[in-house]
Amino acid sequence: MLKGKKILIGITGSIAAYKVPLLVRMLIREGAEVKVVMTPCATDFVTPLTLSTLSQKPVLLEPYNRTDGSWNSHVDWGRWADLFVLTPVSANTLAKMAAGIADNLLTTTYLAAKCPVFFAPAMDLDMFHHPTTQKNINTLLSYGNRLIEPGTGELASGLCGEGRMEEPERILEIIRDFFLRCRDFSGKKFLISAGSTHEPIDPVRFIGNHSSGKMGYALAQEAAERGAEVTLVSGPVHIGLNHPAVKIVRVNTAAEMASACLNAFPQSDVTIMSAAVADYTISNPATQKIKKSGEVLNLTLTKTTDILSELGKMKTPEQFLTGFALETDNEKNNAIEKLNTKNLDLIVLNSLRDKGAGFGTETNKVTLIGRNGESRELPLLSKKETAARILDAIPGNRTE
Ligand code: CTP
Repeated sequence: MLKGKKILIGITGSIAAYKVPLLVRMLIREGAEVKVVMTPCATDFVTPLTLSTLSQKPVLLEPYNRTDGSWNSHVDWGRWADLFVLTPVSANTLAKMAAGIADNLLTTTYLAAKCPVFFAPAMDLDMFHHPTTQKNINTLLSYGNRLIEPGTGELASGLCGEGRMEEPERILEIIRDFFLRCRDFSGKKFLISAGSTHEPIDPVRFIGNHSSGKMGYALAQEAAERGAEVTLVSGPVHIGLNHPAVKIVRVNTAAEMASACLNAFPQSDVTIMSAAVADYTISNPATQKIKKSGEVLNLTLTKTTDILSELGKMKTPEQFLTGFALETDNEKNNAIEKLNTKNLDLIVLNSLRDKGAGFGTETNKVTLIGRNGESRELPLLSKKETAARILDAIPGNRTE
């Protein structure tokens, strides 16, 4: 299934580099065209000769040839590839990538690459857990790169823990999945809502909730990478997304979110309401800061528009509408009821009882329930992978 796919493999100086020839061999066997770029340090762990023999192409090591002055264009390599997989990535290269340092052929190629990038860190567990490394990984994720998470087990240092490069067989599976999902929403328009809403009490205070927006942003990124044009209606969040196919409409209140969603809905093929919209707003927000006075302060709240219900009423047979349900008890029945009353095609059930699921976490655990009642419980996954699985359940241009 990888026939004709152009895959660039980047290898850095980590002992796990010894596993990469196996990955290159498997990719070639599947029909992919493979080129390899290595940092100088990587050549201490695995030889360029091994990799050029297996990839059937010269390995790129130096920005230029010291004897004849000819140069290897990092720009050409970045443009050639359909996919760039950096594996293993040392803590040092991770830091350079996050900071935009381009001091060797691999890091310059990374900066120039136009294609999607996967990176598979490999290092000792303390290096992996160091706040700097974690911050660098998050920085790379915020730029749209995809993490191949390291496994847990015995490390070259003799210690045991997280930091092992993912096994080549699993990386091959990830690459296969990537191409399977590639551009299956090409030409489709998505409307996605994300984050919480802030309902003002007075000019300095508001009622909000813990939604970080991570799930909605992951959905927007995944849809865009799969070819969709996305309008992301976002409540106030601390994360960003920079993708040419994603237009972010920023809102604060439930009323603003309602108006932005109702406006974009008629043009959208697929809508996913993942925002945690306030169900009630302050009836009469004060125009001046409320001064501390009596022992009790009563606020009067008014119901907001249920945006999803309104969209369900407007929906045409060609449109696909997805809602989220956040439940703490009687989860499945409540979700099915929401699916039916709001006229949805799919509902994503989040249970706050599941460890690692819900607000602020990097992971999620959801159950997908379709219109005919069939449900699929997904395991605990990264929000990125959860987003991919949710999109797999939405009709696209897939031929399989
Ligand atoms: N939703 C919405 N507008 C609202 C409230 C919720 O569009 N004013 C959407 C959410 O984006 C989500 C779905 O409705 O997709 C379900 O949200 P949830 O808070 O779980 O349920 P509610 O319908 O608000 O019901 P309840 O809070 O009573 O469980």
